[in-house]
Amino acid sequence: MTQTETVDLSLRIGDLELQNPVGTASGTYGKGLEFQPFYEVARLGFVIVKTITTEPREGNPPPRLCEIPGGLMNSIGLPNPGVDAYIETVLPKLRTLGAPVVINIAGHDIKDFAILAARFAAEEGVSALELNMSCPNVSGGLDYSTNPDVAREVVAGARAETDLPLIAKLSPNVTDIRPVAQAAVEGGASAISAINTIVGMAVDWRNRRPILGRGYGGISGPCIKPVALRMVRMLYEAVDVPILGIGGIETADDAMEFFLAGASGIQVGTANYYRPTAALELLEGLPERIASLGASSLQEIIGTLQMP
Ligand SMILES: Cc1cc2nc3c(=O)[nH]c(=O)nc-3n(C[C@H](O)[C@H](O)[C@H](O)COP(=O)(O)O)c2cc1C
Repeated sequence: MTQTETVDLSLRIGDLELQNPVGTASGTYGKGLEFQPFYEVARLGFVIVKTITTEPREGNPPPRLCEIPGGLMNSIGLPNPGVDAYIETVLPKLRTLGAPVVINIAGHDIKDFAILAARFAAEEGVSALELNMSCPNVSGGLDYSTNPDVAREVVAGARAETDLPLIAKLSPNVTDIRPVAQAAVEGGASAISAINTIVGMAVDWRNRRPILGRGYGGISGPCIKPVALRMVRMLYEAVDVPILGIGGIETADDAMEFFLAGASGIQVGTANYYRPTAALELLEGLPERIASLGASSLQEIIGTLQMP
């Protein structure tokens, strides 16, 4: 066996053992099934699906997407069929994916998170829940991860309903992300995902209008990577649970930056749109890079960035 073939990429989140740390970010990978023509999705460490809410949602008025230099802006607004239809029609298909499925849920209020957690915990084929406490495109969506007390309550409510790993997905749109993460862990979070999109606005000055239908939107893609890296580092120093880094990750080199900063796993988001094979190519590039640092496992390199 070559050195790179023996590199251990495994990762544990709560009781969940993942074969590797590469997953896909909610809302950028559909149901995962759409990517099966491109590669064997089962090779990924995990797949996180688009946010589900208790009731069906139409989403926001168009335009919902626009390109900006180095990234994308969106104000999609969580369109989804609602939990009942999702469990009946979509979940059976997700069970065929092969990769561990993480269901991403968002409540209209704190109680909803608990209701959704209970519903999905009762189903086969759900490996973990990611709590979307940070959607900038719905009213009140950001509130769950801008106030530590609210964040603690959201996670604790879901925790009371399930033993599944709970991943709290936090917002970068705060002065300090650390107290929010600490509160989420106190509430029972098994891991932290960071970051969701950064709020912003694109302007069509000739028409005196914002480009996005809702006015403001969330920025994603390569241009947000430096913000995400800093927040992952801050989280690494503040909490003891695994951190899943998100933000502009496309290549194995991007992922390595996040691992050294302190991420135990990563999620590929916007890159799925412009390079559908990005997540798999990234995964294939990891063993060689980890071995080049003289390590034989992912665990050995996490957080080893030498800060000044
Ligand atoms: C079009 C689009 C839709 C998204 N929808 C969701 C969503 O439903 N739930 C969620 O938690 N995050 C959602 N996100 C945020 C991503 O999961 C991710 O946190 C963010 O885009 C940053 O990663 P990236 O720069 O790799 O895209 C969405 C992002 C985009 C671009």
